[in-house]
Amino acid sequence: MRSILPYLLILAACNASIDDYKAQRAKIVRDEALLSVGGNSTLTDKESDVNNCLMQRKFREVDYGFNNPQSYEFSRHFFSYKNSIRHSKVYQIIKELPKGAALHIHDMGIAGPDYVLNLTYTDSLYMCYDKDDVLFKFSDKTPSISCTNKWNLISDVRRSSNNTAAFDAKLRKYFTMYVDNPDVVYPSIKESWGTFMKYFGRVNPIITYRPIWEQYCYEVLRKFREDNVMYVEFRSILPSLYELDGTVYNPLITAKSYKKTFDKFKKDYPDFIGAKLIYAPARGINRDKLDEYLRLARAIKADMPEVFAGFDLVGQEDLGNPLIDFIPQLLAASKDLDYFFHAGETDWYGTTTDENLIDAILLGAKRLGHAYALPKHPLLMKEVIEKGIGVEVNVISNNVLSLVKDVRNHPLSSFLANGMPVVLSSDDPGIWEADPLSDDFYVAFVGVASRLADLRLLKQLAFNSIKYSALKGSAKMNAIHKFTQRWDTFIDNFNCSKY
Ligand SMILES: *[C@@H]1O[C@H](CO)[C@@H](O)[C@H](O)[C@H]1NC(C)=O
Ligand SMILES: *[C@@H]1O[C@H](CO)[C@@H](O)[C@H](O)[C@H]1NC(C)=O
Ligand SMILES: *[C@@H]1O[C@H](CO)[C@@H](O)[C@H](O)[C@H]1NC(C)=O
Ligand SMILES: *[C@@H]1O[C@H](CO)[C@@H](O)[C@H](O)[C@H]1NC(C)=O
Ligand SMILES: [Zn+2]
Repeated sequence: MRSILPYLLILAACNASIDDYKAQRAKIVRDEALLSVGGNSTLTDKESDVNNCLMQRKFREVDYGFNNPQSYEFSRHFFSYKNSIRHSKVYQIIKELPKGAALHIHDMGIAGPDYVLNLTYTDSLYMCYDKDDVLFKFSDKTPSISCTNKWNLISDVRRSSNNTAAFDAKLRKYFTMYVDNPDVVYPSIKESWGTFMKYFGRVNPIITYRPIWEQYCYEVLRKFREDNVMYVEFRSILPSLYELDGTVYNPLITAKSYKKTFDKFKKDYPDFIGAKLIYAPARGINRDKLDEYLRLARAIKADMPEVFAGFDLVGQEDLGNPLIDFIPQLLAASKDLDYFFHAGETDWYGTTTDENLIDAILLGAKRLGHAYALPKHPLLMKEVIEKGIGVEVNVISNNVLSLVKDVRNHPLSSFLANGMPVVLSSDDPGIWEADPLSDDFYVAFVGVASRLADLRLLKQLAFNSIKYSALKGSAKMNAIHKFTQRWDTFIDNFNCSKY
């Protein structure tokens, strides 16, 4: 008779190895979760209740997409699902959530087309149709700026259109990138950036009219506060403000006007932490121009050290100029200016744009704008983690400006998995008619982050936005305290049946 012992032994060994396998697998799952942004934090009992409410709704949304990929929204252009976001329960919770700070926003791209349209009702605004575009200028007489057609007061043009609603609807289109057929209108980065830059050309002369400027900046702060953001860092090219009689001011006046608006806003809303300024002029310049910009940056810093955060260069990175062109000057200035460079906002691997990441980090940048190409640079990834260099991620911007179509492929998912020092921001939300910050949080949380990422991620992202801000010392401590209080109030007052 043959013994059954060998079979039993094999079975036991096999069981042991399956148990071992399961343990190893569980360890990987656990360790990866611990490594992720927010994954190493714990929730209070009350926070856990909020989390259960949130995750029930998140699972419903993600699982619906998983089972119906043909109608999955986040694989498409933001414009195709922008309006349906408002119906999402997860969005409605995120809207109310204290989100901390917005650290990557450009002043002229925030207020949105309805607000800009309203500004065109201000007296003394002239307009002129120029080829397929339109020019604007406030003036006490007909502007002398060259244009293929005649300049007219916009009030006269509006009146003689005989249909104000139709005229305004047409005008509004000049103040937004939003269209119903984005894939046709923006087939590549050339078209999206082309339209994006034209927006700035049109809106600049409207909002840099001195009496409008302060009102505009105040409105922007109000919008952020309404979206449960408590602190912002504005990037600004510091456009020259002007008067009806043609007087043009020095950009230092623009910075002073910022400070005045920040002070007034904080006085009106003591619950708001505040705002700072990152001077961010256009990158398409020569070395002399950069010297001039750096001198101005130092002058602003000397004049208002508590408002000035640092320096950056902006514009479509692929079209130049790369940071490498300016190393001697930027290296010298790095001793007294903090840098917040846009870097690696590109799909082009191995190009000068891609390598801006190397220079931004070597120049000691405190944070990186976008750093979209960062996962392609393993050494820089390590450096960013070790030095705690904030990575400012703007998912919706990257979608609208043609870097990524399906946001599940956005590098943010890998940043989050690696526990990187990420902050979420919105770049120019007014130009694509997004919320000041809530839409970006929502798309990142449901469209990009792990299905399993929960309230701990949202809390860590909000906390990161204060942690990696340009606030220093006791001002940062106070901001953390204020944020924590707001967070606790939100948790205490949370009512799941509202969602
Ligand atoms: C998680 O946090 C604890 C305590 O702060 C720390 O000791 C540990 O190293 C962290 N683990 C990871 C994976 O970050
Ligand atoms: C535009 O102006 C009208 C009338 O003053 C006002 O009711 C409306 O709220 C304004 N809209 C925006 C977006 O500012
Ligand atoms: C508006 O109405 C006036 C008077 O009826 C007419 O002369 C003019 O052509 C109309 N303008 C437009 C743009 O339809
Ligand atoms: C929670 O919200 C529901 C629905 O809006 C409301 O009926 C209920 O009174 C709220 N509960 C509390 C404690 O506020
Ligand atoms: Zn930007």
